[in-house]
Amino acid sequence: MENNRIILEAQSVIKQYTQYDAVVTAVNRACIKVVEGEFVAIIGSSGSGKSTFLHLCAGMDRPNAGSIYIRGNNITAMPADVLSRFRGNYMGMIFQNHNLIPQFTALENILIPTTMCNKPDFSYEEHLKRLIKTLGLEDRLHHLPSELSGGQQQRVAIARALINMPQVVFADEPTGNLDRANADEVLELLLEIKAQIGQTLVMVTHDMKIAERADRIYRMDNGELFPVIR
Ligand SMILES: Nc1ncnc2c1ncn2[C@@H]1O[C@H](COP(=O)(O)OP(=O)(O)OP(=O)(O)O)[C@@H](O)[C@H]1O
Ligand SMILES: [Mg+2]
Repeated sequence: MENNRIILEAQSVIKQYTQYDAVVTAVNRACIKVVEGEFVAIIGSSGSGKSTFLHLCAGMDRPNAGSIYIRGNNITAMPADVLSRFRGNYMGMIFQNHNLIPQFTALENILIPTTMCNKPDFSYEEHLKRLIKTLGLEDRLHHLPSELSGGQQQRVAIARALINMPQVVFADEPTGNLDRANADEVLELLLEIKAQIGQTLVMVTHDMKIAERADRIYRMDNGELFPVIR
């Protein structure tokens, strides 16, 4: 593993939330190393800190202590504007609850990251066509999120996360709201697109059938992250 390119490294990351007098340690000295092209699954019970950790790795939030490196760049030390551009160029995020903008159509939602991306030679039209076709969204592009089924909303969120061809994709329970058949289908689509682009995928899931497909599994327990030996 050491010979391969490490795309994500978290070093002893701590995240605490303070509410009134109580301090919740949501992530407690978590460490992870992920190499380019890997599919890593993170499992763990509800409230164990999975989403918090994923958001930290994806640069959506900052830890209280520890460092996170993406492609060797310490994102914990980046000023907000630099981090925002960096995220737009290299990282994609699929949220636990889609986070689609309700007033935007499916297509407008999918294209949001292109406005934050700084890749002058990257023309996304071909990639957009392929994504829409693979995700079966051709006849839903001009619908609002409220006019889409849960599975279709999830597909839009996936297209939005992948539109910039990010090197690393963070997915928080991307199949959590879907039935078995839809969950399997969405996973196949993610893996198919991952294979096309050669992406790294870090996915939180409670679905063991999906986690078993990963190259490696980690388990989060009360904020601590442990590799699962298989
Ligand atoms: N913004 C916040 N303010 C205060 N506490 C928070 C906040 N976000 C998360 N927490 C707390 O941090 C802990 C971890 O939450 P987190 O959402 O990361 O868990 P999770 O493993 O993703 O759970 P689930 O499987 O239910 O999605 C929980 O105790 C939660 O209540
Ligand atoms: Mg969560």
